[in-house]
Amino acid sequence: MCGIVGYVGLPEKSGEHQALDVLVEGLRRLEYRGYDSAGVATVSGGVVQVRKKSGKLGNLLAEIEAAPVGPAQVGIGHTRWATHGGPTDVNAHPHVGDSGRLAVIHNGIIENFAQLRQRLLAEGFEFASETDTEVAAKLIGRFFAGEAAGDLTAAMRLAVNELEGAFTLLAVHADAPDRVVAARRNSPLVVGLGEGENFLGSDVSGFIDFTREAVELEQDQIVTITSSEVEIINFDGTPAQGRRFYVDWDASAAEKGGFPTFMEKEIHEQPKAVEDTLLGRTDAEGRLVLDELRIDPEELKATTKIIVLACGTAAYAGLVAKYAIEHWTRIPVEVELAHEFRYRDPIIDETTLVVSISQSGETMDTLMAVRYAKEQGARTLSICNTNGSTIPRESDAVLYLHAGPEIAVASTKAFLAMIAASYLLGLYLGQLRGQLFSGQIADILADLHSVPGKIQQILDDAEQIKALARQMADTPSVLFLGRHVGYPVALEGALKLKELAYIHAEGFAAGELKHGPIALIEEGQPVFVVVPSPHGRYSLHSKVVSNIQEVRARGARTITVAEEGDEAVQDYSETVFHVPGTQPLLMPLLTTVPLQIFACALASEKGYDVDQPRNLAKSVTVE
Ligand code: AGP
Repeated sequence: MCGIVGYVGLPEKSGEHQALDVLVEGLRRLEYRGYDSAGVATVSGGVVQVRKKSGKLGNLLAEIEAAPVGPAQVGIGHTRWATHGGPTDVNAHPHVGDSGRLAVIHNGIIENFAQLRQRLLAEGFEFASETDTEVAAKLIGRFFAGEAAGDLTAAMRLAVNELEGAFTLLAVHADAPDRVVAARRNSPLVVGLGEGENFLGSDVSGFIDFTREAVELEQDQIVTITSSEVEIINFDGTPAQGRRFYVDWDASAAEKGGFPTFMEKEIHEQPKAVEDTLLGRTDAEGRLVLDELRIDPEELKATTKIIVLACGTAAYAGLVAKYAIEHWTRIPVEVELAHEFRYRDPIIDETTLVVSISQSGETMDTLMAVRYAKEQGARTLSICNTNGSTIPRESDAVLYLHAGPEIAVASTKAFLAMIAASYLLGLYLGQLRGQLFSGQIADILADLHSVPGKIQQILDDAEQIKALARQMADTPSVLFLGRHVGYPVALEGALKLKELAYIHAEGFAAGELKHGPIALIEEGQPVFVVVPSPHGRYSLHSKVVSNIQEVRARGARTITVAEEGDEAVQDYSETVFHVPGTQPLLMPLLTTVPLQIFACALASEKGYDVDQPRNLAKSVTVE
């Protein structure tokens, strides 16, 4: 998820608004969307000037101070959350085309960039970066200089009709010095309307300091802005209208997309986080394509054991991964808390695949465990949300999440994305080893691709969960039960409540309760139970219903998370949160969401800072 801004103003406004000032202010507001690198391109005097630098926005400002761009009334700016290609200067946006006379910035993932890149290479184009964005720039430049005959809007339209995936693209050209042209598919873009000036932003915080009059673009639309005009067309060239609205948020709320907290924003970004993590990793035949792994498939096939290393929420994602990967590949999977791993003299050899899971890629416990595993001869693979961070850099291979920056300290969207990425790894290994037939993989992927819409259904129906949380704001403790893949969900639900509401909460395997913890049950003790699908392979469902009865018989307040249509739990639950059904192994992507919403709502009711809870850090870089 990157930050994007565009600006066109009248020359006479140069006293009031220089393009560069507008771009930098917008990027400052959008930096939360990604901070791997930043860059701008301005158009003036018949040339496009590009300045870009890896690292935070301050690095770019220093670059501009060292090499000023001069006055300009047209420009685009970008702050990057790296997906394709590490966070380097050369991979930073903008990327150029048409011999440097065109500059392009991009948010999203162009799924077919590899094929397009090969085609352009064959036509003699050369590439400086590893990015999908540069492919788009070369394509737009090719059309501008050719078929579009110098019409930047036409060039954009011809190009986007060849792109697949999710993208917001902005382009400027030295020979079209009065405009910015942008296109969007599955990635946000809004227009800001000014007096003698117009703006573009990946969200309204990109221009909220200059105007609150905005126009939201719809899917597959192209917008051309000049200082006085905003023209919208569909990808097929037909005229279109955007949706006009007034931004009644303040700047801070705008960075949160109108949500009161980043935590709530990120909970609501989960459909897209899962969708983007799945995007571009299957081919037209539905086969998994994880070329980015950079581990010889033959070596992967020879894997005899997988060890998952992680901490906290990431470790719970690893526990979910264990159930799925073992089922699909028949490879034994051990899940280890990274900080315990290297002190127990683990058994590792060159056929061991060590999979680290980390949102930040900087957790010292996990990094040190990965280093130890490498010393012992293991192959190492990082599942990570932060491009170019230390753990992926030191691993043999990386499978990046595409959840976008997670600002709230307590992890939500990264957790679901970690699980989704782990499923992809398990399916890929199953495909490699012939444990899964293409039809089975296609069925599972079809169910996976339906999950984002189901998460959205849960989010749309969250009021009941929030109401219960408000009622329970004073509860001193909550227990969470789960079984099979519901057990890690119970652990994560308990952790969220601890982290956000500072309430004692504990997750248990439901079957373990009767072996001691049931002594904790007393009148009124709230117990959440994550109920397996009634369509599951084992009779787990009936056993968990028995567990609910056991605690209810001792006075517990039973709150169950169950699949839609599961009526068996109704009689034993004070409250039932129903979630849409899917394959049992994929249910954590759905059953986790009510628990996140509950913890966030309860903590908010108590007036706590859910974005920066006490005592916590987003990345624990000490052992
Ligand atoms: C997440 O809610 C927690 N703040 C914490 O457990 C976190 O998951 C853990 O520190 C691992 O972080 P990582 O994913 O960045 O490695």
